[in-house]
Amino acid sequence: MIQLQGVSKHFGPVVALNPTDLIFEERKTTVLIGPSGCGKSTILRLIIGLLEPSTGRLRFDGTVISTETILQLRRRMGYVIQEGGLFPHLTARQNILLLPTHLGRPREEMQSRLNELAELTRLPQDSLSRYPVELSGGQRQRVSLIRALMLKPEVLLLDEPLAALDPMVRANLQTELRAVFHYLNQTVVLVTHSMAEAAYLGDKIVLLRQGNIVQAGTFADLRDHPADGFVSEFINAQRRLVVS
Ligand SMILES: Nc1ncnc2c1ncn2[C@@H]1O[C@H](COP(=O)(O)OP(=O)(O)OP(=O)(O)O)[C@@H](O)[C@H]1O
Ligand SMILES: [Mg+2]
Repeated sequence: MIQLQGVSKHFGPVVALNPTDLIFEERKTTVLIGPSGCGKSTILRLIIGLLEPSTGRLRFDGTVISTETILQLRRRMGYVIQEGGLFPHLTARQNILLLPTHLGRPREEMQSRLNELAELTRLPQDSLSRYPVELSGGQRQRVSLIRALMLKPEVLLLDEPLAALDPMVRANLQTELRAVFHYLNQTVVLVTHSMAEAAYLGDKIVLLRQGNIVQAGTFADLRDHPADGFVSEFINAQRRLVVS
C-alpha cells in the first residue's frame, strides 16, 4: 500500500531519517516504535506529504508521492497528528464535519457515518456539541480518530494517539482501537513509545534508532530473534518499567 525506497530526510545538518526501504501492507497495522527523535513522526509526515524526502521516493498504491499527486493522495489518507490537532474554536461535531462539508459530501450520509463511528469508538453523543477544552483527553482522542475516519481513508496514520492518557483510559482505548481497525479492515500506520501497545496492536513492528530501522517483524520475531542488543534492551527496559 505504501512503499519507501531509499527514502532519507535531513534538516540541514540534522539527519532525521537515513536511507530507508520499508513497505506498509494493506489491511495490516504497522507500528513505528523507538526512542524520542528516532524519526517516527518524520516517516508519517513524509507519507502525508508535509515533508519532501531528501533522497529516494515514496509510493502510495503505486503512485509516486510528489507535489503534483499529493493533494489527490491525501484525500485517501486519514492523519491524526501527535497533539491531536483539533481546532479549539470549533465543537467536536464541527471539527469532524469541517472537511466533509468543505468537500460537499451529502449531509445525511456524513451524519450517519458520524453516528456509526461515535458508536464504534464509544464516544458519548453529548460530547459532540462540546469544544475540545471541555472534553477529557480520551474523548478528544476519539474525536480526532473519528475525524480522520470520516471519509473512509484507505490508510490511517496515527502519531502517538494514546500517549497523553492515564493508564486505564489508555488500556480501554487500545482495546477499542484494535476492534475498530479490525471491524473496518483498516490499513494503519501507528506511532507509539510503548512496546506493549506495539505488541497488542501491531501486525508488524518497525523498531527505529537514530534514523535507522534496527529491526522489522512481528513482536515474536523481535523478542525471540533480536537483530542486536538494542532490540532486547528496548523490550527488556519496558518490561522492567512494568514490574517496578
Ligand atoms: N523541522 C525540523 N527541523 C530540524 N530538525 C527536525 C525537524 N523535524 C524533526 N527534526 C529532527 O529530526 C529528528 C527526528 O524527528 P521526529 O519528529 O521524526 O522524531 P520522533 O521519533 O517522532 O520523536 P518523538 O518520539 O519525540 O515524537 C529529531 O532529531 C528532530 O529534532
Ligand atoms: Mg514524534
